Amino acid sequence: MSQDNIVDTSRPSAGRMYDYYLGGNHNFEVDRQAADQVLKLLPFAAKFVRLQRWALQDIAVELTEKRGYKVIVDFASGLPTNDHIHHKVSKDTTVVYSDYDPIVVEYTHEILNNTTNAYFFHSDARKPDELLNRPEMQKILDNRQKVAFVYWGVSAFLADEDISHLARVLYDWAAPGSCLAFNAQGAEVPDNPAVEQVMKIYEQMGSKVTLRSLERYRELLQPWQPDANGFISLLEWHGFDQSVLAKEDAQAFGPLGGGYGAYLVK
Ligand SMILES: C[S@@+](CC[C@H](N)C(=O)[O-])C[C@H]1O[C@@H](n2cnc3c(N)ncnc32)[C@H](O)[C@@H]1O
Repeated sequence: MSQDNIVDTSRPSAGRMYDYYLGGNHNFEVDRQAADQVLKLLPFAAKFVRLQRWALQDIAVELTEKRGYKVIVDFASGLPTNDHIHHKVSKDTTVVYSDYDPIVVEYTHEILNNTTNAYFFHSDARKPDELLNRPEMQKILDNRQKVAFVYWGVSAFLADEDISHLARVLYDWAAPGSCLAFNAQGAEVPDNPAVEQVMKIYEQMGSKVTLRSLERYRELLQPWQPDANGFISLLEWHGFDQSVLAKEDAQAFGPLGGGYGAYLVK
């Protein structure tokens, strides 16, 4: 399949801009230009994105080594490069990635190549039932319904009704004891003209960004409930060394960076 057939390179894509912030090379000039505009407005955005991505590796270890899950189903995965979940888990853990961006689809098959415990599906995170009900998924899952779901780095791109729908679908599908690792992006962001401009850039690309309070996230995610640790700011996410941030970054990060993460449980 040629890239020209499946990828619209005439306008930037949020997923490819994310790859650019992370220092990857799966992006085009149009993405780099838009991302540079964002970085001009929010110079710490690249660090924030790396923090968000780093948390995924921590989640991989937490879910498998500490919480004992053998199946991780990750939605809106982006590219499963070597900083992603399957690199951090043992070979007997099954990892299922998915994304709806054609460029992710194209490159993921190359990236995963001969990886035996990681799978990828082209799928819309707003409709998790479509992924879970696929015959290939049912074969992979082999009746295992006590699983860990991951929605990381995507919530700001989802509408309220998408979040409440996906939360309900996953809850109804999953066996008791299942978990949902969820990143509440853009929570508690104070009014900031630079953020508003960045939101406009994304909106013009067709990727509307929604900021919401933690309270709103909690309502939308019901009936899932956060575990005893509740929602934790990514700045306080276990193991993150805040000394790597410059003073100005730390100040800017406080209200803006990465939002919050939680392990929600059934
Ligand atoms: C900011 S990246 C996050 C990637 C990864 N989850 C992480 O935290 O590093 C957002 C990804 O979500 C994908 N995405 C956004 N909306 C989606 C949807 N409705 N269904 C599937 N993927 C989606 C984009 O294509 C992009 O790859």
